[in-house]
Amino acid sequence: MPERTLVTGALGCIGAWTIKALLEQGEDPVGFDLGGDTQRLRLILDDAELERVTLVQGDITDAEALGRALDEHEVGHVVHLAALQVPFCRADPVLGARVNVVGTVTMFEAAKARRDRITGLAYASSTAVYSASDPSPAPESGGTRPGTLYGVYKLANEGTARVFWQDERVPSIGIRPYVVYGPGRDQGMTSGPTLAMQAAARGEPYEIVYGGTAQYDYAPDVGAAFARAGRTASEGAHVANFPGVAASLEEAVAAIEAAAPTVAGKITWRDEPLPFPPLLETGELERLIGDVPCTPLAEGVRRTIEHFRRRAVSE
Ligand SMILES: NC(=O)c1ccc[n+]([C@@H]2O[C@H](COP(=O)([O-])OP(=O)(O)OC[C@H]3O[C@@H](n4cnc5c(N)ncnc54)[C@H](O)[C@@H]3O)[C@@H](O)[C@H]2O)c1
Repeated sequence: MPERTLVTGALGCIGAWTIKALLEQGEDPVGFDLGGDTQRLRLILDDAELERVTLVQGDITDAEALGRALDEHEVGHVVHLAALQVPFCRADPVLGARVNVVGTVTMFEAAKARRDRITGLAYASSTAVYSASDPSPAPESGGTRPGTLYGVYKLANEGTARVFWQDERVPSIGIRPYVVYGPGRDQGMTSGPTLAMQAAARGEPYEIVYGGTAQYDYAPDVGAAFARAGRTASEGAHVANFPGVAASLEEAVAAIEAAAPTVAGKITWRDEPLPFPPLLETGELERLIGDVPCTPLAEGVRRTIEHFRRRAVSE
C-alpha cells in the first residue's frame, strides 16, 4: 500500500505545516491547490524540503484533475484542507458553498472510487460548527446551529463524511481547529493574533478586531495532527475538536509583549467576542490518533515572533 499523502489546500497555512510534518516523517508529499503562490511554503520549508514536494495546481471541484493527481502519484492517504475561510464565504456565499461543500463531496467521491488504495482521509472542519449560544466547553458531539455560512458549510462536511462512511465505507477523521496561529496564518477571521505577532516582530503596533477567550492552536501542532490523522483514518467517520490552549486575548497579547517588549502597550484589541463558545471539550483526537502536540501559548508565540524576525533578516 503506498504511503504517499496528498494535501489539498497545501499552499495555505495549515497545508504548509501539514506538508512540513509529512516531510519530517520521511514522506515526499503531494500538494494540490488552486493557487500558484508558494510564499507560505517558502516561509516554512527550506530549499531542500521544498524540492521534495510535488505541487499540482488544480481546483478541488474538478473531479478529473483531482483524480489524475491521486492516480499519477499513487496517493494512499489524503489530508483535505482546501476551503474558503469565513470572510471569503461571507463575501461570496455561492463560491464558498462550491469550494467548501461541493469541493469536499468531490474529495470524498474521489476517495470512494479509490477505496482499494486510499485507506482513509482527514479533513478540516472548524469550531465554526458551533455558535455563541452553545455551552462552553462546547460538547465534542458537535454544534447544530452554526452562526456563519462558513460554519453551515463545515457542518455539511461533517454530514458528508458520516454518510460516505455509512453508505460507501469511506473512513475519515474531521478535525475542528479554533484560533490557529503561527507563521503562514495571514488571512481569515481569526488571523489577528498572528498578524499582531508579525507586527511585533517589526516593532510595530497592531489592533486585533475582536476579544474574549478562545483556544489557541499552534499551526505546527495542527499540521502534525492532520498529517497523522490522514494516515490513521481507517474506520468510521470521526470528528474531534483540536486540543489547543485556552486563553483570553489579554493573555495572548501579554505573551506577545513578553516576546517583543518594545511593543508593550501597542497591541490592542476590541472587546467583541468571537461568535463561538470560548472553550471546547477535547479528548477525542488523542483517542483517535494518540498524543497530540500542544505547545504552550507563551512558547508558540515566542517561536512565531522569532520565525518572523529570522525571515525578515534573511530576506
Ligand atoms: N486557520 C484557522 O484558524 C482554521 C480554523 C478552523 C478550520 N480551518 C480550516 O482549515 C483548513 C485550512 O485552513 P488555512 O488556515 O490553512 O486556510 P488558508 O486560507 O491559509 O488556505 C486555504 C488554501 O485552500 C486553497 N484553495 C481555495 N480554493 C481552492 C479550490 N477551489 N481548489 C483548491 N484549493 C483551493 C487556497 O489557495 C489556499 O492555499 C480550511 O479548511 C479551513 O476552513 C482553519
